[in-house]
Amino acid sequence: MRLSGDVRRPVLLLPAVLALVLLPAAPADAWRPWPHLKPNASASDIFGQSKKYEGSSEFVKLKYHMGPVLTANITVHTIWYGVWPKAQKKVIREFISSLSATGVKRPSVAGWWRTVQMYTDQTGDNISQIVRLGQEKNDRFYSHGKSLTRLSVQSVIKSAISTRTRPLPIDPKNGVYLLLTAPDVSVQDFCNNVCGFHYFTFPSIVGYTLPYAWVGNSAKLCPGQCAYPFAVPDYIPGLKPLKAPNGDAGVDGMVSVIAHEIAELASNPLANAWYAGQDPSFPVEIADLCEGIYGTGGGGSYTGQMLEDGDGTTYNMKGIRRKFLVQWVWNHVVSYCTGPNALDQ
Ligand SMILES: *[C@@H]1O[C@H](CO)[C@@H](O)[C@H](O)[C@H]1NC(C)=O
Ligand SMILES: *[C@@H]1O[C@H](CO)[C@@H](O)[C@H](O)[C@H]1NC(C)=O
Ligand SMILES: *[C@@H]1O[C@H](CO)[C@@H](O)[C@H](O)[C@H]1NC(C)=O
Repeated sequence: MRLSGDVRRPVLLLPAVLALVLLPAAPADAWRPWPHLKPNASASDIFGQSKKYEGSSEFVKLKYHMGPVLTANITVHTIWYGVWPKAQKKVIREFISSLSATGVKRPSVAGWWRTVQMYTDQTGDNISQIVRLGQEKNDRFYSHGKSLTRLSVQSVIKSAISTRTRPLPIDPKNGVYLLLTAPDVSVQDFCNNVCGFHYFTFPSIVGYTLPYAWVGNSAKLCPGQCAYPFAVPDYIPGLKPLKAPNGDAGVDGMVSVIAHEIAELASNPLANAWYAGQDPSFPVEIADLCEGIYGTGGGGSYTGQMLEDGDGTTYNMKGIRRKFLVQWVWNHVVSYCTGPNALDQ
């Protein structure tokens, strides 16, 4: 059984061929949302010649490996670890509810999810259109401390499903478990190019195989990495952070990471369905392929064309009552990254 450890995604500077061998992360997915900011590196260095958008290429061989995808109605059960103000919870809940909301104007979060829905299992069933909020658990006294490892993340989930008062339901068919940590919680590899990861729980620890993801609020530890472009890394002088659509760089940054992880949980829940790369222990998944791309033209160090609101905030899609900035995902039908705010679709 392979456990975590080498979850870091190296900075994407390698030449194309080397990159596909060395780039990917771990059994779980690990990523950073900020684009490839080093001089002279671009998505086309990694993925070959760009065609329509950077990040598009026939060189990317995303494959289906015959495992299940989440075709049943998806229910997201959330664990709030540490202190979570109501206003922050609300932004995240409304984002998740927006994934299958109808009647939201374009470009919508539900429109973004439509690209994820295009992935199917071996019977031809699509990923579910329905993603709904499930139950929630507050772990406000840090049951496993303020410094979590990949394994203790599973223990936090175990506690949430086995606590005596209002445990989260055990729901291997429809449930995905989302552990969200407050800004004062450090997690193994967090900020080391890792802003979130997903995998499934081990029966030996949790008692069940449940798809889960962890995403941390990076506001204190590394906003320049994990809340980019609402915060920028210190080592890039002169680069200005953009104004976050919900006024909270840490949480607005988390939204895109949560989206990334849910998309990959849906398309590769047991690490044997949709991914690129040779080694199932080091998958490159549907959101990994589009990191840092938020709009048409995105790739390299450019985020692509986004939208600006009257109040100067930047976003690329609308949800229930709010706007969000979310990275694009790989569309395997057309073989490039797509999103609802694409200019020519
Ligand atoms: C990087 O790009 C700049 C400007 O295009 C160029 O002058 C420089 O030689 C490049 N450096 C390398 C290592 O390719
Ligand atoms: C999924 O959700 C839809 C809409 O709420 C509902 O009609 C349907 O019965 C659900 N399917 C299952 C298998 O629970
Ligand atoms: C299901 O997936 C197929 C193949 O990717 C796609 O063409 C179709 O539009 C998808 N259907 C829905 C409802 O998303």
